Amino acid sequence: MSTILVTGGCGYIGSHTIIELLNQGLHDVISIDNLVNSSEKTIDRIEAITGKRIVNYSIDLCDLAATQAIFEHHPDLTGVIHFAALKAVGESVAEPLKYYHNNFESLINILKCCEAFAVKDVIFSSSCTVYGSIDQLPVTENSPVSRAESPYGNTKLVGEEILRDFIRISKNVQAIALRYFNPVGAHPTGLNGELPANKPNNLVPFITQSAAGLLPPLTVFGGDYDTRDGSCIRDYIHVCDIAEAHVMAMDYLGNGKNTDAYEVFNLGSGEGVTVFEAVQAFEKAAGMKLKYMVGDRRPGDVMAIYSDSSKAEKYLGWKAKASIHDMMASAWKWQQHLMQEA
Ligand code: NAD
Ligand code: WQD
Repeated sequence: MSTILVTGGCGYIGSHTIIELLNQGLHDVISIDNLVNSSEKTIDRIEAITGKRIVNYSIDLCDLAATQAIFEHHPDLTGVIHFAALKAVGESVAEPLKYYHNNFESLINILKCCEAFAVKDVIFSSSCTVYGSIDQLPVTENSPVSRAESPYGNTKLVGEEILRDFIRISKNVQAIALRYFNPVGAHPTGLNGELPANKPNNLVPFITQSAAGLLPPLTVFGGDYDTRDGSCIRDYIHVCDIAEAHVMAMDYLGNGKNTDAYEVFNLGSGEGVTVFEAVQAFEKAAGMKLKYMVGDRRPGDVMAIYSDSSKAEKYLGWKAKASIHDMMASAWKWQQHLMQEA
């Protein structure tokens, strides 16, 4: 059986993708994660859900020699799903060099190793952040990208360029960049989910932690946008749908169905949801009222963005299945699980 390396496998999206890969049963899986934003407990959670235990190598992907050693140790590697990155937008503004170093160096080292060890298939975690503020909705892969609002966003924009330039000259490697919209939710068992190391800035973990009494009431950032209810519109997508897309993208590359050595796909539900609608969906899923207030707009927020993901449907055979209700119900189940665990 071939082996897939998942970098960032102890993190939020990486761990859900490992669960999907293990459930599919076509590959062995290993993880590299230095635990800078996660914990090895995730490996236990993956085992609790799948019944399978995988190995995580706790090394820094910025260390080329250490990364090479893992590739040497696993001659059966055929693909890499590269999730590992720092991802906090605000922190990246405060510490740009930390973000540029970590996110570029780790990507470059992965590509060097894939070339040297002829590991053919690479999937890169990109983001809808590459589109910036855009008027033409929904966003397709042909929509223009724009100057990044933050160093984090720039690591995705330039990361895609690094990948594209490298694939153009690579003898051994082909790649896909997947642009995620807003991944939220947790595994339906409630046994694995997002675990922000610090106070969450993202909407859904803030809602669940606030509802659990761990954080003050939610502030809705701006109620005076030119949208149907005045709050911002986003394309929330269940993390398990995102995970499934990676498995399908790996199969697509592995079976040689790709038309180009480097391709880009949007991963979104295609549905725009306002902040107030997200709050209502949470209230319905959790069966409780959420305390919130409407505050100022958050600097850097785009008013509305949602995806046209028909390219992923056409080529990968992938389509988002979960509703916003499923996303909120699973996120709340995970929050309750965490509270029982504590
Ligand atoms: P996460 O922080 O939960 O997972 C990333 C993992 O990578 C962490 O466990 C961290 O410890 C590890 N890591 C970071 N730098 C490393 C290094 N140098 N060496 C080894 N391990 C390292 O984040 P996530 O939400 O699972 O995101 C996964 C990927 O998807 C990231 O590349 C992120 O930028 C991208 N992405 C995330 C979102 C989102 O909203 N969560 C949206 C779009 C794109
Ligand atoms: C969603 C909506 C907020 C918190 C971020 C990154 C982006 C990508 C996805 C990685 C917005 C509103 C939020 C709160 C609120 N990640 N909100 N009160 O900003 O769309 O995107 O995650 O690539 O790069 O920037 O996600 O979850 O922060 O916000 O009203 O306390 O919720 O204004 O409209 P965002 P988010």
